[in-house]
Amino acid sequence: MHFPERTITLKDGRTCVLRPNGPDLADQMLEYLKKTSGETEFLIRNEDEVNESREEIAAFLGRGLENPYNIAMAAIVDGKLAGVGRVFGIGGQRKLQHRCSLAIALYKEFWGLGIGSALINYLVELAKNVGWEQMDLEVVAENEQAQVLYKKCGFIETGRRHNAMRFDDGTYHDEILMYLDLKG
Ligand SMILES: CC(C)(COP(=O)(O)OP(=O)(O)OC[C@H]1O[C@@H](n2cnc3c(N)ncnc32)[C@H](O)[C@@H]1OP(=O)(O)O)[C@@H](O)C(=O)NCCC(=O)NCCS
Repeated sequence: MHFPERTITLKDGRTCVLRPNGPDLADQMLEYLKKTSGETEFLIRNEDEVNESREEIAAFLGRGLENPYNIAMAAIVDGKLAGVGRVFGIGGQRKLQHRCSLAIALYKEFWGLGIGSALINYLVELAKNVGWEQMDLEVVAENEQAQVLYKKCGFIETGRRHNAMRFDDGTYHDEILMYLDLKG
């Protein structure tokens, strides 16, 4: 969906622009998807599994921009993509229409500056306007930094999925399930 740009000040004094993530960012998104997948084990994909072309990414971002049940947000610092947050409807069926899901990741060099908090706060505001009643997410049990952020933003832990991920080193990792009530 389209939404207004918002400018925030980061903990290091720099300015960050939160804006719709559209096809004009396709080149930066391709680099971002590859690099962030390699910087942390806590994302779904390994680096070598990012195989989309620039054109496929541009088309995906273009469709997302026109979809009222997709909020794709880019955080831009000094003209460069620093990270991305996305909220999307779980499903179109009436039994699922009240729920949306959150995904977020930043380049490592931009961790700890307040971008994650600002992205989630703005995404939550927009998700409430859409009419979603609940925001869900899954986070790897060892990902403490993300869980601190989610709890700070009001998310509540509801459960645990056993061995949800198997890393390349053969280790298995549970996922924590969390939700945020958007009705309040
Ligand atoms: C998780 C992630 C999005 C957090 O974003 P961020 O911009 O670094 O978060 P913020 O700077 O807004 O920090 C939020 C809170 O986390 C806490 N925090 C920051 N760095 C931390 C660290 N290294 N360890 C534990 N907690 C930390 C702080 O308490 C902070 O709250 P405060 O601002 O009131 O002090 C970011 O680290 C990231 O992209 N990680 C890799 C991808 C990932 O794990 N995504 C989530 C998948 S479920």
